[in-house]
Amino acid sequence: NEGSLWGGRFAGGPAAAMAALSKSTHFDWALAPFDIQASKAHARVLNKAGLLTGDDLGGMLDGLDRLAADVADGTFGPAESDEDVHGALERGLIERVGPELGGRLRAGRSRNDQVATLFRMWLRAAMRRVALGLLDVVDALTAQAAAHPDAIMPGKTHLQAAQPVLLGHHLLAHAQPLLRDIDRLADADRRTAVSPYGSGALAGSSLGLDPAAIAADLGFDAPAENSIDATSSRDFAAEAAFVFAMIAVDLSRLSEEVIIWSTPEFGYVTLADAWSTGSSIMPQKKNPDVAELMRGKAGRLIGDLTGLLATLKAQPLAYNRDLQEDKEPVFDAVAQLELLLPAVTGLVATLEFHTDRMEELAPAGFTLATDIAEWMVRQGVPFRVAHEVAGACVREAESRGVGLDELDDETLAGINPSLTPAVRDVLTVRGSVESRNAHGGTAPIQVRRQIELVSAQSADL
Ligand code: ARG
Repeated sequence: NEGSLWGGRFAGGPAAAMAALSKSTHFDWALAPFDIQASKAHARVLNKAGLLTGDDLGGMLDGLDRLAADVADGTFGPAESDEDVHGALERGLIERVGPELGGRLRAGRSRNDQVATLFRMWLRAAMRRVALGLLDVVDALTAQAAAHPDAIMPGKTHLQAAQPVLLGHHLLAHAQPLLRDIDRLADADRRTAVSPYGSGALAGSSLGLDPAAIAADLGFDAPAENSIDATSSRDFAAEAAFVFAMIAVDLSRLSEEVIIWSTPEFGYVTLADAWSTGSSIMPQKKNPDVAELMRGKAGRLIGDLTGLLATLKAQPLAYNRDLQEDKEPVFDAVAQLELLLPAVTGLVATLEFHTDRMEELAPAGFTLATDIAEWMVRQGVPFRVAHEVAGACVREAESRGVGLDELDDETLAGINPSLTPAVRDVLTVRGSVESRNAHGGTAPIQVRRQIELVSAQSADL
C-alpha cells in the first residue's frame, strides 16, 4: 500500500470505512510545514549519530526543501491513499529522492513523538499570532480611552444605575483582562516549548539520537524529561484551549455592552457602517453583527475546550488514537479568533461615542447618593447614619420627581441638620468622578496614569 507507514504484518489493506475513519489529512495538513522542518532537524541528528552519511544528508535536505516548496505552492498535497500528513510527506519525499534514501528518514522516530512535537510547534506560532491580534484590540480600546479623556458615563452594577465613571476607565476595564490573556499565552508558551522528539512511540530512542540537539534546532527550550509523558500528555493543548476560550469570553463581555449601547434606549454609541450589517426586510436596521458573532462564537470556543478535556479524561498511558481528536478543537479555536480579532478591533476603533448623552444620563437613578453619604462621613458623621440620610434624600427626591441636586436647603436640613448647602459641592457627576482619585479609581488623573501604563505594557509586548 503506497503511502502507508505500517503494511508489513497485514495480509490486506484496511476496509474502506476503516480508512475513512482513520484519515486525518483534511485537518492535520496544517502541520505539513512543521513536519518538514522537523524532518530536516531529524535528518541532521541521524547524520550526527552516524546513521546517515554526509552525502545522504545533503540529498535528504535537498529533497525535503523541494517537498516544502511543492507543499507551499500546492503542487504536492495529500492523496486519497494517505492516512495522515506524516505518511503523505514520507510518500512525497520518496517520490523525490527514491525509496533507498527516503526510507531512511523514519529511523528512531514514531508518529507519536512526531505529532506531539509538530502540534506544539504549530501551537506556539498560533499563540503568537493570537497575542498580536489581541494586542490590536487592546490598542483600539486604549486609543478610544485616550480620545475621550473627560467623557463621563453611567457606571452600572446589576445593570442598574450605580455611580458615574469615566468612559476611559470603563474601556480600560476591558483592556486589562485582555492584557492578562496575552500574559497567559506567554506563560502557556513556556510549557509548550518542550520537545517530545526522541521519545519514539513511548519508550525513547535506541539509536543514539540527541533529543536536546533536535529540541534546540526546532526552537524549543528543552527536550522532554519523560518519553511516556511527552507522547501522551496534551495538557499544553488544553491550557491553550482554555486561554483561547477565556479570550473569547472576555471579548464577549465587551461585545454584549456594545450591543446594548447601540440600542436607541441607551444611545451611547453609533456603529460604523463598515462594521455593521443591514436587514433584508427592515430598511432602517443597522445590526451589531460583529459583536453578536463574537458573543456567539464564545460558546463555540468553550465547546472546543470542554470537548478536548473530555477527549483526554480517561485515556491510559501512553499514546492512544483518541489523541488524534486533540487538534481540531484547537485549530478551530485559533481559526475563529483569527476571524474575530481584526473585526473586533475594527468595531472598537470606529465606535462613535455620544458623550453628551452619556454624561446627561450619568446622574439618572440618583447615582450621586454615595457622594452625599461620603461627604457626611468627611463631616464626621458615622457611615451607618450617613447611608440612612442619603437614602432619605433619594426617597424625597424620587417622590418630588427631582434630582438630588435640586433638593432645597430646608428640605436638606429637615432630613438631617448636618446636611448644609455645602453638600451640593459634591452633587455633580464631574465632582464625583474627580473625587475617586485613589490608585485604580475613576478620577481623570488615575485614568491618565492607567492609559500610560497600558500603552507601555502593550508597546513592550
Ligand atoms: N494521526 C495521529 C494523530 O494525530 C498520529 C498517528 C499516530 N498513529 C498511531 N497509530 N500511533 O495523533
